[in-house]
Parts: sequence; structure tokens; C-alpha cells
Amino acid sequence: MHWREKLIIALDVPDSEYALELVDKFGEQIEIYKVGLELFTSAGPRIIKELHKRNKRVFLDLKFHDIPNTVSKAAVAAARLGVYMFNVHASGGFDMMKMCRDSVVELCLKENLQKPKILGVTVLTSMAQQALKDELGIQHSLNTHVRHLSALALKAGLDGVVASGHEASKIKNHCGKGFIIVTPGIRPSWHPPDDQHRTMTPKQALREGADYIVMGRSILNYSDPLRAIELVSLEMLTA
Ligand code: C5P
Repeated sequence: MHWREKLIIALDVPDSEYALELVDKFGEQIEIYKVGLELFTSAGPRIIKELHKRNKRVFLDLKFHDIPNTVSKAAVAAARLGVYMFNVHASGGFDMMKMCRDSVVELCLKENLQKPKILGVTVLTSMAQQALKDELGIQHSLNTHVRHLSALALKAGLDGVVASGHEASKIKNHCGKGFIIVTPGIRPSWHPPDDQHRTMTPKQALREGADYIVMGRSILNYSDPLRAIELVSLEMLTA
């Protein structure tokens, strides 16, 4: 697979003008963009249409987490937008994930739409072992918890999970090679420490089994973002 099919750029910017300026600047280099809470809240579904017009695939990262009925209706709306992938919090539970998946499959069959890949968010890459225990009251290890949520997502029929590179190989072993792993918290050597805790370099994450890596600030905040993409692509080729 070409490196471009594995790199997702997070459009974590405040408005659609800025987002599209970046997309036009990156041109053919980037094929998949992630639209998250900030951009979707400010720009709405129109930004998805603009990205599609430019032949880009979209990962809608809104991390749905609500009762099964509400999440499955939001999921149907996401599928109607034609996104390539979207996510829900796996900690929303089995019924929520299963109903979400079933509603999307039903819609796509009925309306002959391409089914988006549905991912379960396991444990946020900004969360460390201690916080999981002290703040969320989860007593078993972070690895065990990620594995447990991944298995639950698989059982509910989801296509894969969002998880850090540190858990990727264990998830692949547990859930199978075809179960997709999308990995944020990617930090190349030039990036200073920040809110992300379970980080990895692009090369390490791919070696551990990530199918896609998500990169935001380390590309967008680099003095020359196109050069940063080039550096990352070279590193990905050696993975
Ligand atoms: O700037 P940075 O590379 O940290 O961006 C990572 C992106 O991935 C952010 O948009 C963040 O919301 C998202 N994300 C994450 N951890 C998850 C799921 C999504 O960091 N578990």
C-alpha cells in the first residue's frame, strides 16, 4: 500500500477557509483528512462536501458516545455524508456499537451507499495508565482495557479501533489482521512533548501494526508543513 493511503492529516483548525487553504496547499500529497470536533462544529457538513469535491477521503472524528438510538441516528447521518470512516467510543458499550453498525449497514444496503468504516475509540492516546486508574477508576492495566474494548468492538461488528501504537500489535494478535487500527499520538523526532502521552514515531507505529496513522500538530505547526509531510513519508517508506 502506498504511504499516502496510510497517512491521515488532522485538520485541527478553527474554520473552513484555513482548512481548505491547507488542503489546496498539500494538493496530491494527502488523500485522507480527519475532520474533528473543532472544525466540524465551526464549519458543519459543508466542509465534508468541499473535501469530497477535491477528491479527498474523510475520517469524521466526532467520537459519538450516547445512548444507542442517538448514536445510530448520528451514524446514519455520517454515512449519508459519504465519509470514508467515522468513530464512536467503544466505552459506550456493546448495544450502542451494534445498533450503530446495524443501522449503517441497513441504510447503505437500502440506498446503495458505500459503507463507511466504523471504528471504536478505545482509550484516548492522551490518557496514561495512572489517570485511567485514578480518574476513571479502571483497575486493570491500560493494555488489558484497550484489548477488552477492542474485542467488544469486534464482537459488535465494527471494522476496527482507534488506539495508540503501544497497543497495536496486541490488538492485531487478539482481533485478527483484518481488524483496522488507526493510530493518533504520532510524534516525529522534532515534536516537543505535549498533552499526548502514549506516543510513537510514524515508523514505530506502522511496524507495530497500525493501518493508518493520524498526524496533526507535528505537521501543521512545523515551519514548512509540506517539508514535514515529505520527512514523514520518507520515514514511512522505511517502516
Ligand atoms: O495534533 P495531534 O497529532 O496530537 O492530533 C491527533 C488527532 O487525533 C487529534 O485530532 C485528536 O483529536 C485525535 N485523536 C487522538 N486520540 C484518539 C482519537 C483521536 O489524539 N484516541
